[in-house]
Amino acid sequence: MLKNDQLDQWDRENFFHPSTHLAQHARGESPNRVIKTASGVFIEDRDGNKLLDAFAGLYCVNAGYGRQEIAEAIADQARELAYYHSYVGHGTEASITLAKMILDRAPANMSKVYFGLGGSDANETNVKLIWYYNNILGRPEKKKIISRWRGYHGSGLVTGSLTGLELFHKKFDLPVDQVIHTEAPYYYRRADLDQSEDQFVAHCAAELEALIEREGADTIAAFIGEPVLGTGGIVPPPAGYWEAIQAVLRKHDILLVADEVVTGFGRLGSMFGSDHYGIEADIITIAKGLTSAYAPLSGSIVSDKVWKVLEQGTDENGPIGHGWTYSAHPIGAAAGVANLKLIDELNLVSNAGEVGAYLNATMAEALAGHAHVGDVRGEGMLCAVEFVKDKDSRTFFDAADKIGPQISAKLLEQDKVIARAMPQGDILGFAPPFCLTRAEADQVVAATVRAVRAVLG
Ligand SMILES: Cc1ncc(COP(=O)(O)O)c(C=O)c1O
Repeated sequence: MLKNDQLDQWDRENFFHPSTHLAQHARGESPNRVIKTASGVFIEDRDGNKLLDAFAGLYCVNAGYGRQEIAEAIADQARELAYYHSYVGHGTEASITLAKMILDRAPANMSKVYFGLGGSDANETNVKLIWYYNNILGRPEKKKIISRWRGYHGSGLVTGSLTGLELFHKKFDLPVDQVIHTEAPYYYRRADLDQSEDQFVAHCAAELEALIEREGADTIAAFIGEPVLGTGGIVPPPAGYWEAIQAVLRKHDILLVADEVVTGFGRLGSMFGSDHYGIEADIITIAKGLTSAYAPLSGSIVSDKVWKVLEQGTDENGPIGHGWTYSAHPIGAAAGVANLKLIDELNLVSNAGEVGAYLNATMAEALAGHAHVGDVRGEGMLCAVEFVKDKDSRTFFDAADKIGPQISAKLLEQDKVIARAMPQGDILGFAPPFCLTRAEADQVVAATVRAVRAVLG
């Protein structure tokens, strides 16, 4: 029973929620949960329900909720200087410090950070920079971007196109022509079940190369990928995947964008997914974990190789025609500085690696042998459970049965644990804050087992 029905009414009458069934919500058929407060890995709604948030919001509250150090830094910044822009060489102490802190942590070939607000606009920036880069190099035809099916890179026009999930294209006239897709490194869902991991990796690289040859390498500017596929199902790549893909890209002079919006700043137990998998990117996208979502902030980290051409471009053409009013917003930057300091002080990256490995191992063990659990996979503080109708043939449940959403609803109802029913397939995703303890991981696993049994027997 809702305590404040006025708020519920206002919500349904006035609020356009993202990624929501709009008609059902307006009719009052879907839940309206109003979150009031939070601490550590727990959030609390206005009815006093305390929920263990095993998805860290949208895998972004990496440092955990209620961190006073970050809140104070935001308040101090707002009092001292709530805003100034960063156009024509302006900056603030917070934004300059944060750029330095990011570069200190980023792979050695990185040179500068452009700040945006969210992951989608950062990837929009990346595509513009890549097009600009090839125009400056006198290669106006080299413009297409390759992304993977099941990749997630945002929901703007170009970024929604890069996203390889049907829901984000349908009825939006996407993808745009300049974006093309290749196979996802999703070993569990390979077409040929007899393929070894090595053979599957070779197959993914061959598919990519065939696409490049079909389109013409001189028309392909860049490849974008998440080190671990996130929203597409939390799928770590098979061993050797990134090495094989990078060999193809280098051969055809194609830039690589590592979209580290989820993996950046520690989620895999390494500072960047690029370090974790030996990815040498030309541009790295960052957002979520940069501020642990205490304030909106994203970034495009640009390599020396790309930066040199951007400098050449402005010598030839004048100032770069790109910028947002809120680029490098001081409040976001202050949150970022405090957040990165806290992550270091509390050793949260290594905790993400250690407790994440524990979560993955205990989840796999607890669900081993269940007739409808096809796969338990993960890396660092990312974990997924995939449900199948039949284990041997890996057949899907009927989408209309909504098995994934049913299990996540049961998890919430029975044990007040939040996991995410991933948008494509019956996959339950976990991405807790990095401060998760082993005891909390046990709680998540026990609740998951109970929810799976309640729905699937
Ligand atoms: C890998 C990746 N890139 C980009 C985005 C888009 O970020 P935002 O929702 O902040 O626009 C997301 C969001 O989940 C993401 O997971």
